Amino acid sequence: MATKGVFVVLEGGDGCGKSTQVKRMVSRLGDLGREVVATREPGATENGAAIRLLVLGGDHLDPRAEALLIAADRAEHVAEVIRPALERGAVVVSDRYIPSSLAYQGVARGLGVDEIARLSDWATGGLAPDIVIVLDVPAREAAGRRAGPEDRMEREPDSFREVVNQAYRDLAVRFGWTVVDGSAPVEEVADQIWAAVRPLL
Ligand code: TYD
Repeated sequence: MATKGVFVVLEGGDGCGKSTQVKRMVSRLGDLGREVVATREPGATENGAAIRLLVLGGDHLDPRAEALLIAADRAEHVAEVIRPALERGAVVVSDRYIPSSLAYQGVARGLGVDEIARLSDWATGGLAPDIVIVLDVPAREAAGRRAGPEDRMEREPDSFREVVNQAYRDLAVRFGWTVVDGSAPVEEVADQIWAAVRPLL
């Protein structure tokens, strides 16, 4: 189904600086007079907030249950937030989307990229982003940036984070995602992201 808006996704390992960059991008888009919807996964909807607690709250979750819960959150997110906004012509900026599932569940949890891609495609009715930007930050540096109590994913060891980061780099080549060096100063990162997004507007 054709939509009028633009769908931008920001990706990367935990603590890579996505939320700061979403704010920067939203402010630049606002300056252009576009309607902007900033959103995130998991947990952007009411049902999604409950799913987020299940996914990140406990101590243990079977990897397939994790993948399915995240897919359910995403189905709700697309139906309730993303698709309606795109149909209005808004620019949607999502902190995480399908690429997170490919990197975390497909690669790091070992469930398989193709299987998770099929599950994600079904959950979203095939809604693909116009651009995916990956912030690449070394796992140790990212760990130092995180604040607050750790959730179940953040309690995974550094080796898990390294696998996630490498997965993002490999998948970026395969799927044509834009990789930005997230270790650079915030404004420089913001400029690089903007240079990639601006031509789509
Ligand atoms: P969050 O606190 O939102 O982390 P961040 O600020 O780093 O985005 O938690 C999201 C966590 O859920 C993060 O560890 C990655 C994980 N996740 C997946 O494993 N698969 C997914 O598809 C999504 C959307 C998130």
